[in-house]
Amino acid sequence: MGKEVPNSTWMRVWANTAWWIVTIFSVPFGLYTLPFISGKFEIYKHFTREARLGNHHLAGLHILHNLRTWQIHATAALLFVAIGPFQFNTSFRNNHSVLHKRFGYVFAACTVITAVTGATTMSKATELPPIVKTLSPFMSIGTLIALTISINAARNKNFQTHRRWMMRSAAIGYSVMYNRFPLPPLIYAFTKDQDQALSYTFPLSLLLNCGLAEIYIRKYLTQSDRKLL
Ligand code: HEM
Repeated sequence: MGKEVPNSTWMRVWANTAWWIVTIFSVPFGLYTLPFISGKFEIYKHFTREARLGNHHLAGLHILHNLRTWQIHATAALLFVAIGPFQFNTSFRNNHSVLHKRFGYVFAACTVITAVTGATTMSKATELPPIVKTLSPFMSIGTLIALTISINAARNKNFQTHRRWMMRSAAIGYSVMYNRFPLPPLIYAFTKDQDQALSYTFPLSLLLNCGLAEIYIRKYLTQSDRKLL
């Protein structure tokens, strides 16, 4: 990921570590999307809040009643996490620029699909805490604005700006991944309240992802820009 500034060793190590964390988490998360994509009620109902509370007759109904949207969202989510590690890998970008561009269109489409479905039907139907409903539209608008700036920059061959804004867009998108694992069990260990834990994980994971991405952009990408001048 970080070959541009060879003397900034710790930044390079951090960038590579972040890439590995995202890639490794993408595997279980990708598998997690499968019951939603295939519409396996008997499986996905166990992931719900009602199931955790022991209300098995209610578990999963909010998904079943909006299944088509959940399927579309989860399919785009699976493609998003499958393609993301390639798009953010420097050697892949350098050696396969045509594929990077093609994957880029799919990645952008997945961002649009997850953002639109996530902030509309799914936010209305979700049984997650109110903070999710509040944050969802902002996350969607944020990720879409960053995506638009990024694509526009790529079309104008301004690849540094393209990278920066793509990273900002993806930081928002990827933050939803850590809301399922490992943040909720971690916070639950302190709060002992599942709903409260989930209320903390959404803003926390957004803040962490966007904050770390911003530090990386300012300290590392901007440095590498200066070196190019
Ligand atoms: C800013 C954009 C996004 C918003 C606002 C959003 C919002 C939501 C909401 C409200 C739900 C329903 C949660 C529930 O009731 O259980 C959901 C589910 C889901 N989201 Fe997103 N999402 C977004 C982007 C993404 C992305 C980029 C991914 C993949 C990395 C993703 C993966 C999933 C998956 C797999 C589910 C279904 C499983 C589940 O409900 O836990 N989402 N999303």
